[in-house]
Amino acid sequence: MSATTKTMQNNERLGETRLDRGSLAVLGKGVDRYEGPLKVSGRATYAYENLRGRDVAYGYLVTSGVGSGTIKRIDTMKAMSLAGVLHVVVDDTAPRASADPNDNKPASIKGAVTHFGQPLCMVVATSFEIAREAAALVEIEVEPAEGKYDLQEEKEKAYDPGDGTMPSTVKKGAFDKAFGTAEVTLDATYTTPSQSHSAMEPHAAVAVWDEDELTLYGCYQLVSTNVPQLAKALGISASKVRLVNPYIGGGFGGKLGIGPESVFAAMAAKAIGRPVKVALTRQQVYQGTSRRSDTIQRVRIGAGKDGRITAIAHDIITGNTRGDDFFEPAGISTEFLYAGENRQITHRKADVNILLSSSMRAPGEAVGMLATENAMDEMAEKLGLDPIEFRKRNEPEVDPQEGLPFSSRMLVECMDEGAQRFGWDRRPATPMSRREGEWLIGYGMSAASRKNLVQQSAAKVTLGADGHALVETDMTDIGTGTYTILQQIAAEMLGLPLDHVDVKLGDSKSPQASGSGGSWGANSSGSSVYAACEGIAEAIAQRLDVSVEHLTLKDGMATAGNKRTPIAEVLAGESIEVTGTYKPGKAFKETHQASYGAHFCEVAVNAVTGETRIRRLMTVAAAGRILNEKTATSQCYGGQIFGIGSALTEELVIDPRTGLMVNHDLAEYHVPVNADVPQLEVVLLPERDTAAGLLAGKGIGELAISGVGAAVTNAVYNATGVRVRDYPMTLDKVLAGWAKTSKAA
Ligand code: MOS
Repeated sequence: MSATTKTMQNNERLGETRLDRGSLAVLGKGVDRYEGPLKVSGRATYAYENLRGRDVAYGYLVTSGVGSGTIKRIDTMKAMSLAGVLHVVVDDTAPRASADPNDNKPASIKGAVTHFGQPLCMVVATSFEIAREAAALVEIEVEPAEGKYDLQEEKEKAYDPGDGTMPSTVKKGAFDKAFGTAEVTLDATYTTPSQSHSAMEPHAAVAVWDEDELTLYGCYQLVSTNVPQLAKALGISASKVRLVNPYIGGGFGGKLGIGPESVFAAMAAKAIGRPVKVALTRQQVYQGTSRRSDTIQRVRIGAGKDGRITAIAHDIITGNTRGDDFFEPAGISTEFLYAGENRQITHRKADVNILLSSSMRAPGEAVGMLATENAMDEMAEKLGLDPIEFRKRNEPEVDPQEGLPFSSRMLVECMDEGAQRFGWDRRPATPMSRREGEWLIGYGMSAASRKNLVQQSAAKVTLGADGHALVETDMTDIGTGTYTILQQIAAEMLGLPLDHVDVKLGDSKSPQASGSGGSWGANSSGSSVYAACEGIAEAIAQRLDVSVEHLTLKDGMATAGNKRTPIAEVLAGESIEVTGTYKPGKAFKETHQASYGAHFCEVAVNAVTGETRIRRLMTVAAAGRILNEKTATSQCYGGQIFGIGSALTEELVIDPRTGLMVNHDLAEYHVPVNADVPQLEVVLLPERDTAAGLLAGKGIGELAISGVGAAVTNAVYNATGVRVRDYPMTLDKVLAGWAKTSKAA
C-alpha cells in the first residue's frame, strides 16, 4: 500500500478543476442519503444505544432548583441508601457545557449557581428509574442570591463584551451626522426572545474506560474540538480520549461544545469501574445546556428621497451568564448586505442569571435579520418604494465596510427570480386591502444572506485494489447529509459508481475535520476529500507516467490522451491511501464571502382572532455549487420552518421572579408542526463561487433561515396593517395593534 498526504489551499480563484472536467455523473444530483436505510430501520446506532446488553450503569442529573446563589451543602446520604444506587458524582469542579466552538475551556461551577436548571451533580444507579428516584433524594442547600432574570431590566447595564464571532463594534464614516441630516429616517427597536435548539435527540453519552483510556460515545458537532474540551474537563491528556460520534440527531448549535452529560458520565464510569450511560431529559436539555439569547435591537436607517441609504446603524443588546463573553452576533449581515457610507454596528452584553447563551442556527443573521429586514420593509414604505426596488437601489458594488470584492453575490438574481415565480406583482398594494371572508391576505419578502465560513479540514481516502474507496474523517453528520455528499465527491473525483464508495464519520481516531457548525461543514470537509482524491489521481498518473492534468478517472478507467487503462490494472493489487487536508487560502481573505437568497411569503390573518396562517413560502437561494440537490433543499426546508417558528411561535419564557424556564419542553415551546407549515418551495440558482473552496460551493443550511421570519411579519403587515416589532408575532399582538390604531378589521 502507498500512503501519502496532500494539502491544498485556494490562494486564488479556481480555474477549471477535476470536477468541471468530469462528467458530473453523481455530484450535485439529489441522490438518496447514504445512511438513510440504517436510520429508517433503526440500525444507525445513536449515542445512547451503544453498549446494549453490557453491564452498564445509568446516570441522572440533579439540577438547581434556584436561579442564583451559592451551594452550601450537598447531602447524598439518602440518595445513596436507596437500593440500586451506586454512586453520586459531586464535584465542584464539574464543568458545564462549553459556550461555543471556539471556547476550549469549559468553565467550572465552583460552588456558584448561575441559573435555574444548572446541572450540579449526578446519581448513578443500576437502572435509569432508580437513578431518577434517587436524584430527588439528594439534598442541596443553596444560599440564594438576587438573580437577574430579565434582559429588559438589565439593558442599561449592558457593556462591551469584547470581540467575539465578529468585532463587538464596527463603524465607518459618521453615522450620527448622516442620520441627522437624512431626508427620510427610521428609528425602530425590535426584540427577539430566547430560543431553544430543540434537537430531536436529547444530549446523551456513554462512557467506558480501559485503564486510563476513555471511550465516549457522544452526539457532538465538532469532534476534533470536543476531544480536548472533554480531556481538559477531566484533567487528562487528549490522547487518552476517543470520541465515537457517528450519528447525531440534530444539533443546531446546541451540541457544538462538550456537554455536562459527557463529563459526568466519564467521571462516574471512572469512579465505579463500569460503563455509564447518561441521557438528559427534555426538560434538562432545555434548562441545562444552552439557548439562543434574547435580543434588543435598535435599527436606524437614513436615506435620501431617491431611496439610497446614507446612514445605517444596528445597536444590539444581548444577555448571557456572567463570565461568558459570547454574544449573539446579530449585526453580522448588517456589515455587508446594503450600501451606505455611514455605518455603525454595536453589540453590548448584559449579565443575566439565565441559561448560557450560545450559537444557534445561523447565529447572528437568524435574529439580526428579523430586525433589519423588517426595518427595510418599513423604510421602503416610507419611501414609497417596492421593497425589492428599495433593496436593489442599495446593492453595494463591493463589501461596504472593508471594500473587499464579493467572491460572488446573486442577491438581485434571487429577488428577481423569486418575484417572478411567486407572483410578487399580485401583492396587495396597500395593507389590509385583500380579504377572503374572515381572512386578510398579505405578501411579504425579505433578503437572505449568510456569511460563508470555511475551516481547515482533513480526510483520508483509500482506493482499494478491489476498486472500492473508503473515506474516513472525524467529520460529523448532524442530519445535514455529510455522509452522502462526501460519498458523491469521492465517487465523482475517482470515477467510481456511488455504491463503490463507503464513508466512515465521527470517530476521533480518523483525521481531524472541520466538524459541523456555521454551515461550513460541507465545503470544508468536502474540500479535504477533494484534496485526498486529487492526491490519488496524482499517484495513478505517476504510475502511468502521464501528467495528472490530463488524467481522467471515469467508469473504473484511467484515461490520458489515447491511453486507457483499467484502474484495477494500475493498482496491481496495491491500494492507494491519501490523507487530504484543505486549508482556506488567500482567496478566502481577499474576498468577502457570503451566500444570498430571497424569501417570499403569503399569509392569511384571521380578522377576528388575529391568528396567522402561512399560505405559501418560497426561498430562492444562491450558494455556489450545490453538492446534492435533495439534501440542500432539505436544509432549506428546515430553515424555512425554523423561520416560521421565529416569526410566529418560538419563545422561551423565563419566570422573572425565579429564573425558572416555564416552557421547558416541546409541549409548551412551540416549534412549527405540520399543520403550521404549508407547501414550501425552494429554488436553487446555479452558481460557482471560485474563491470559496475547492468545490466552488458555499454554506447553504443557515442561509435558508436568515430573513425568513421577516418575510413572514412583512406579509402580516401587508395583510393587517399591524407592524409588530416584538417577536414572535403571536395573535394577541396583532389584536393589540388593531386596538391601538382603531383599525379593527
Ligand atoms: Mo451552527 S449554530 O454553527 O451549529
